[in-house]
Amino acid sequence: MDDVAIARGLHVLGVVVWIGGVSMVTTVILPAVRRFKNPQERVAFFEAVENRFAWQARFTTLLTGLSGFYMMYAQGLWERYTSAAYFWVHMMTAVWLIFTIVLFVLEPLFLHKWFHRRATADPEGTFRIVQTLHWALLTVSLVTVFASLLGAHGVEFFRGQ
Ligand code: HEM
Repeated sequence: MDDVAIARGLHVLGVVVWIGGVSMVTTVILPAVRRFKNPQERVAFFEAVENRFAWQARFTTLLTGLSGFYMMYAQGLWERYTSAAYFWVHMMTAVWLIFTIVLFVLEPLFLHKWFHRRATADPEGTFRIVQTLHWALLTVSLVTVFASLLGAHGVEFFRGQ
């Protein structure tokens, strides 16, 4: 069962770097950037940070997803998707799906351009929206980490027992 243990290690590494990064951007970088006096500098700095982080987030999202699906496959856990007791497996998959769509589809296709156009016209309002969305994603992700840990480590309520 070493393969599952290795997949679990990679899964948790992926989650740590990915959700840790989301937390850093949400709780430290965004509030600091919003205090910049010059709106142009604010947009340029935030775009530079998000651009760099987006590549890390893409890589860690892939790593987390691949290792997660591998654990499901190797242990034959697919029927968990049909059980409400395993809602935390649904939550993990939903969080992964949301980030995958944002990072691989919406961001390159349209979010980046939307942010640049809107933040240039209305920096204050745009940063407020961006911060609210980051807080929403961070909150859902942290609740998911908490529930998944309890589920994976045998708390009865999370395993339909
Ligand atoms: C495609 C998406 C995902 C799949 C298929 C998946 C699948 C799994 C599986 C099968 C386990 C082991 C459960 C067990 O031992 O009973 C697990 C553990 C875990 N997952 Fe995921 N996961 C996914 C995404 C995520 C995401 C997005 C997060 C965080 C937001 C996350 C956080 C965790 C945590 C914290 C554990 C517990 C690790 C441990 O200590 O054993 N997973 N996941």
